[in-house]
This record gives sequence, structure tokens and C-alpha cells, in this order.
Amino acid sequence: MSELTPDLLRELVAEARLAPSVHNIQPTRWRLLGDGRLALVDATWVRAPVADPAGHDVLVSHGAALEGMSLALNRRGLAITAMTTIEQPLSPQFAALCSFAVRQGVLPDPLAGHVAHRMTWRGKFAGAPDQAAPLVQLAVARDDLICIGDRRTIADIAGWADQAEFSFVRGDDYRAELLEWMRLSPSHPHYLLDGLNRDALAMNAVEATAARYVLGGLFKPLDRLGLAASLLSDSAKTASAAAIVLFCRPVGEDPLTTGRHFYRSWLEIDRAGLAACPISALADHPDFNDRLRKLGKIGTDLRLVNVFRIGWPSKPLKPRHFRLPVDRLIV
Ligand SMILES: Cc1cc2nc3c(=O)[nH]c(=O)nc-3n(C[C@H](O)[C@H](O)[C@H](O)COP(=O)(O)O)c2cc1C
Repeated sequence: MSELTPDLLRELVAEARLAPSVHNIQPTRWRLLGDGRLALVDATWVRAPVADPAGHDVLVSHGAALEGMSLALNRRGLAITAMTTIEQPLSPQFAALCSFAVRQGVLPDPLAGHVAHRMTWRGKFAGAPDQAAPLVQLAVARDDLICIGDRRTIADIAGWADQAEFSFVRGDDYRAELLEWMRLSPSHPHYLLDGLNRDALAMNAVEATAARYVLGGLFKPLDRLGLAASLLSDSAKTASAAAIVLFCRPVGEDPLTTGRHFYRSWLEIDRAGLAACPISALADHPDFNDRLRKLGKIGTDLRLVNVFRIGWPSKPLKPRHFRLPVDRLIV
């Protein structure tokens, strides 16, 4: 066993927090326990209950953070060991979801070097001379990813993604929650800390102001005029993807494990030289989930957990991670 000092824990958390989380809500905290084990702690008030009513995406986000911790340990020759996953309330605000000890001696993980570079790319994708090789690399690297590269099928899926997203956006509660997590002006007190700011959303100031109105007070009149759907459409971005990737995991899998693989898949996409943006609405909408399952010939033993659009970003990635300070993540 290896000892986790408070200084080392701060370094580890600084890297683990780069993991993705739904709407960038960052529900994960960490606590060093008296016996030297480290607990992954759920901040129980940090939720997106309308977009994620079952709390599955929160657990997937915790799983991604856990993988982030594992990769941070790996960079220091350390590994997670003796993990227990018994949920334990610590206070009304916090519940430990799992705890583990740390041991020495692991082989370097090739994905650890991609943590700082991975980000959500919400812009358009560019074409590239050799489209096939990285997609083949990806499909070979992971058997839980199904890559769809046919252009007409991608165009169809781009339409489905808009329909799925819009069916959710029509809900008043959904729009209110989304706006709550959006930081559309740099003067927002949480602009650099959490949620979705306009840099992360790849919006300029005019687009951000327009989004505020279209998702806010103007939504209903624009919807009555049949204009809201086209104003919110992402289909050009989705259709520009080199591939649509279906992320499938075993039915009944522990969502923390699913989240670890979700993050590793995304890092594998980065390793292949590609960028990605999840399209959760396609997996969350039962009809479109069904269509994609048929398209990907996904067996009944697998769940279609999420969908990525992936491709070559139209400009070089300059990753920026908007995250809570380390001090607030250690409780
Ligand atoms: C479970 C899960 C679902 C997500 N779904 C979406 C999505 O539907 N659309 C989207 O643009 N980003 C989605 N994201 C990406 C997050 O918004 C993103 O990870 C977060 O804002 C942090 O930014 P970063 O990935 O650039 O570090 C999802 C992330 C997770 C973990």
C-alpha cells in the first residue's frame, strides 16, 4: 500500500477533475478517510434532474471522475486497489459511493497522456485526406464502440439528433434547467467554474445572446411560427462528422464502471487524433435509441448508453477546462 498525503491528493484531484461530466455539473468530491483510503463522494445537491431524471448521467460522470483519478495515479506509478462500492451517507450533502486504497507498481497507461488534451468539441468538423485509418484504429481499440462512417446515414442521424433534442427542448422545465447551467456571459459568477459557458459552447457574444432568448422568453412564439427548431438545429455540425460512434455497454453494468469506459472511449478518440461531442438526446430518446440499436445491430445484452459525433476539428484544439477549484473538491 502507498500513502496518500494531502499534497499528493491535491495534485491527483487537479487532474481527475478534467474528466467530463453531464452539463459540466461536476458532482464528484473526494475525501481522505482515517484508514488512508480515498473515498469518491457524491455532492448530492449537484444534479440536472430534468435532463437526467434517473441520475444515470450523474453516476456516469462519477465513473469518469473515478477513471480520471485512476489515470492521475497511473502517471505517478500508482494504482487503485481493494475497491469497495458500498454507498454510505456522510452528511445530508455528501455520500461516499466507493472507496479504495492505493498501491505502487503499474505499467504506464497510454491514455493518461491524453487527459489534458481531451475536450468537448462543439464546432463543425473538417474533412481530412485519410478518413478511414483513425476510425479503424478506434474500432480495433474498443469493442464497445460501433463506428458509422456512411455519409448518408450520418446525414440521417443528424436529422434524428435534432428531432430528439428538440423534443426535450420543448419541455419548459428542460429549457429552464439548461439555461440554469449555461453561463452565456463572462460576467456570470460561475463562468470559469462549472456549467456550460459560451467558450465551451463555441458561441460568440451574439450567438450567446440569441441562445438566451431562443431558449428563454422567445421560445414559445418562435415555436408557434415554426422557427425554433431551425434556430436550435445542430444538424450541420453532426452531418460534418467523420463518423457517428455508438457507445454500448452490458445491460445491468454498474454505472460507475460504465462511466470509466465512457471516459476511456473519449480518450481513445483523442488518441486517434479526433475530437468528439456526445449527443445524449439520441440515446435518451426511446424511439431514436431504438432506431440506432437496429442500425448498429446492437444485441439485447447491450445498452446503447450514449452517442458521439467525431471528426477532425475545423481548427486545432486549444483545450480549456472550466472546473471548480481543487479546494472545493476535497471535502
Ligand atoms: C454523461 C455525459 C453526457 C453528456 N452529454 C452531452 C451532450 O448531450 N451534449 C454535449 O454537448 N455535451 C455533453 N457532454 C459533455 C459535457 O458537457 C462536458 O464533458 C463538460 O461540459 C466538460 O467539458 P469538457 O468535456 O470540454 O471537459 C456529456 C458528458 C457526460 C459525462
